Amino acid sequence: MASKKDERTYIMIKPDGVQRGLIGDILKRFEQKGFKLVAMKFMQPTEELLAKHYGDLSSKPFFPTLVKFMASSPVVCMVWEGLGVVATGRTMLGETDPGKSNPGTIRGDFCIHIGRNICHGSDSVDSANKEIALWFKEEELVKWTPTEQQWIYE
Ligand code: RTP
Ligand code: MG
Repeated sequence: MASKKDERTYIMIKPDGVQRGLIGDILKRFEQKGFKLVAMKFMQPTEELLAKHYGDLSSKPFFPTLVKFMASSPVVCMVWEGLGVVATGRTMLGETDPGKSNPGTIRGDFCIHIGRNICHGSDSVDSANKEIALWFKEEELVKWTPTEQQWIYE
């Protein structure tokens, strides 16, 4: 399916990214790329919400520790928009295992262990839409036009 300029993804700075003071560094990557910020909030998620978010992984052995870790400290929840933002967001994050992530990616530059990989990104347009609806109310998704758009898109 062709990407559209209004494609959206759900990006979440995990507890380790927040605790390590990497919020600004991670935000900056998406901002400087040219993607448009649609929503952002800082919150302490419940295990219940995280179990829904990672529901597809519920049969994995690491699921209970993943949910507990993700609920251990606040997270930054964001929606970013732009052409191909789901796939490009994943490329910018790097591999799930930071050890396999290239330098220049967020996980390649800032972390080491698979269980402390600092940032989440939706893996498809379909999961992005589900995750955005799970974490945000419709009225939290801000409608605005960045003035730089004509310098980012032909
Ligand atoms: P995320 O959803 O957090 O963006 O990560 P991902 O798509 O790259 O990887 P996913 O398969 O969705 O796994 C979610 C998170 O679970 C932890 N994990 N641990 N011990 C393990 O083998 C293992 N595998 C995955 C990672 O923290 C991963 O980000
Ligand atoms: Mg995932």
